[in-house]
Amino acid sequence: MTSPVHTDLGALLAHSRSVITSLQEPNGAYPASPDFSAYRGYCWFRDGSFIADGVSAAGAVDSASRFFDWCSDVLLRHAGTIEEIVAAARAGHPVPDDRMLPARFTFAGDLGHDDWWDFQLDGYGTWLWAAVAHAERHGLDAQRWRRAAELTVDYLVSSWQRPCFDWWEEHSEQVHISTLGCIAAGLSAAASSGLIEGPRLEAALDARSAIDDLLHGDGTADGHLVKWIGDDAVDGSLSALISPLGVIPAADPLAAGTITAVRRDLSIDGGVHRFRADTFFGGGQWPLLTCFLGLAQAAVGDRDSARSALEWAANTATADLMLPEQVGAHLLDPSFRQEWIDRWGTVATPLLWSHAMLLRLAVELGEVPA
Ligand code: BGC
Repeated sequence: MTSPVHTDLGALLAHSRSVITSLQEPNGAYPASPDFSAYRGYCWFRDGSFIADGVSAAGAVDSASRFFDWCSDVLLRHAGTIEEIVAAARAGHPVPDDRMLPARFTFAGDLGHDDWWDFQLDGYGTWLWAAVAHAERHGLDAQRWRRAAELTVDYLVSSWQRPCFDWWEEHSEQVHISTLGCIAAGLSAAASSGLIEGPRLEAALDARSAIDDLLHGDGTADGHLVKWIGDDAVDGSLSALISPLGVIPAADPLAAGTITAVRRDLSIDGGVHRFRADTFFGGGQWPLLTCFLGLAQAAVGDRDSARSALEWAANTATADLMLPEQVGAHLLDPSFRQEWIDRWGTVATPLLWSHAMLLRLAVELGEVPA
């Protein structure tokens, strides 16, 4: 799983971009993985936002814009729910978790009928961050997403302190540092873009600053960010706070400390695990997390390590150039693998988020799709 790269990188990048754009729904939704049983028919705010960011960086401007249009449509459609959630929180009677917004919607923007670990806040910060970054990258006017941005800011300001499921849809009893990072990135983006003003802007800035204090306080142990408040372990998702989210500046000692801890505890032979106790499909290594680590390494100036991360991720491509959610060369607990295959089928492939992160890191390192 290390270099040399067995595929033509330029061809893999071009294929990655076309996997994403060709599978995008006409209304802008991105499927997480088209055929994987548990994901089929749904678009996640988290996956979709990082997918849009990846293809935006790789020049698929219209595809990314259409995804943000989809986000905006979904939020406007659920505006009544958001207003109720915000009013209840302001009145001191927050609604229960099962009435909060879900992590994923059907392509049509509905809640869907399948049980899921739905209450996750991160994607609502991530879409705002990605939409603003996209508009800035390509000189677009973000005003068409204004009402959706206002609703999102109100939602996040009212609820950012709540425990919820994390990126991996686990541990709803905890306040997760990666989730806080996504929320902080979204609030900063909304504030800097001029999409919000007046008391709403003030509230966003206050929440942003409180999150920053938390990240540098209870969100830190031994000089690195932690998985959740009160824990001292790391999670592979934490690299994202350094880059692309930019919540922890590269010059902040927490950036180097977090990269060191993720490498030390989660990276084996170049590929990054989600967390030490992971048993999902046996707990393999994730190309997308390896790319997030590479982006963080590039941000702190370690381009050689970032290049190795890109090569490792590229080498996980199947013979037909599809990138999986995870690979099983080094499983943390192989005894769980078969159980997941029996439940959901083989590992999700292609995973659009994996393709997007490969694109995002490649572009950061000056590579272009063929
Ligand atoms: C992952 C999530 C992801 C979802 C869809 C889950 O297995 O834990 O992070 O959003 O798949 O790709």
